[in-house]
Amino acid sequence: MSTVAITGAARGIGEAIARALAARGHTLLLGDLDDSVVELAASLGGVGSVLDVTDQASYEAWLALVPQVDVLVNNAGVMWVGPFDEEPTAVAERQFAVNVHGVVRGTRLVLPAMRARRSGLIVTVASAASVLAPAGEATYAATKHAVHGWMTAVRQELVGSGVELALVMPTVVETELAAGTSSGGVPRLSPEDVATAVVAVLDKPRFETFVPARVSVLLRLLSLLPQGGKDAMYRRLVPDQVRSADPAARAAYEARRLGQEAVSRTAGCQPRSSASRGVPRS
Ligand SMILES: NC(=O)c1ccc[n+]([C@@H]2O[C@H](COP(=O)([O-])OP(=O)(O)OC[C@H]3O[C@@H](n4cnc5c(N)ncnc54)[C@H](O)[C@@H]3O)[C@@H](O)[C@H]2O)c1
Repeated sequence: MSTVAITGAARGIGEAIARALAARGHTLLLGDLDDSVVELAASLGGVGSVLDVTDQASYEAWLALVPQVDVLVNNAGVMWVGPFDEEPTAVAERQFAVNVHGVVRGTRLVLPAMRARRSGLIVTVASAASVLAPAGEATYAATKHAVHGWMTAVRQELVGSGVELALVMPTVVETELAAGTSSGGVPRLSPEDVATAVVAVLDKPRFETFVPARVSVLLRLLSLLPQGGKDAMYRRLVPDQVRSADPAARAAYEARRLGQEAVSRTAGCQPRSSASRGVPRS
């Protein structure tokens, strides 16, 4: 069994991955900004500590808690939702710091030892927004596209090294991060659905896994369509968070993860459109 390090493991998808891997006998190193991760790790027989993936010293100290990391799961992430021109610059930069530079930092830190051992797996929880780009998630989608591009290049560099990279790309999942958002024409996933996909990747590594798998069919279809057809497909299946998300329902999450500045535009607001009220929300 392997030692698996999971970032952003205190709740949501990270917690579900931790529980699924503990049940399969893996040894866990869990990290999160939230110190509840310490108790969670102890309850699963692993080690946990506060981790800020945007801080090099914090990341190094966290990794030093175990003798070896066989699998790194880059899971920590943050999301702001709203019209691109209302997004404060600091909020956009924070998303890049966590979602992109946090992933790059962790990968660079664990890679030398994995390369030396000629074995290891780095799983990144990216997003369907790595390949699609919902309105109202411009910066978030940019960060997830960036991670996809970065991993695609690094994977080429690692061919023959014994180290595998994997991207797990879910649609909307029922967690705090997705509070008040729409899932468009696709049913919401549970964090356990994503954990099941991560377990499958540990059993049999593959570079790209969409959750649900049929997203890859949609992508193939989109690539064949002219722009008008793509636009029609987007309207049917990809959520428009400018029209549909509920800023009031997101306020607590955005204040906690992205600072009060992230919500000053939204506090007390109602959803921008009532036309989309039939769309499922968290
Ligand atoms: N929820 C969705 O709809 C969805 C869909 C696709 C992909 N994802 C991705 O899944 C991953 C997990 O998201 P989630 O939905 O479980 O969110 P969540 O908010 O429920 O959990 C994310 C965890 O990451 C932690 N975190 C945030 N910044 C951190 C930092 N700097 N250092 C360490 N930990 C930090 C938070 O404290 C939190 O516990 C993210 O990368 C997210 O982008 C989520």
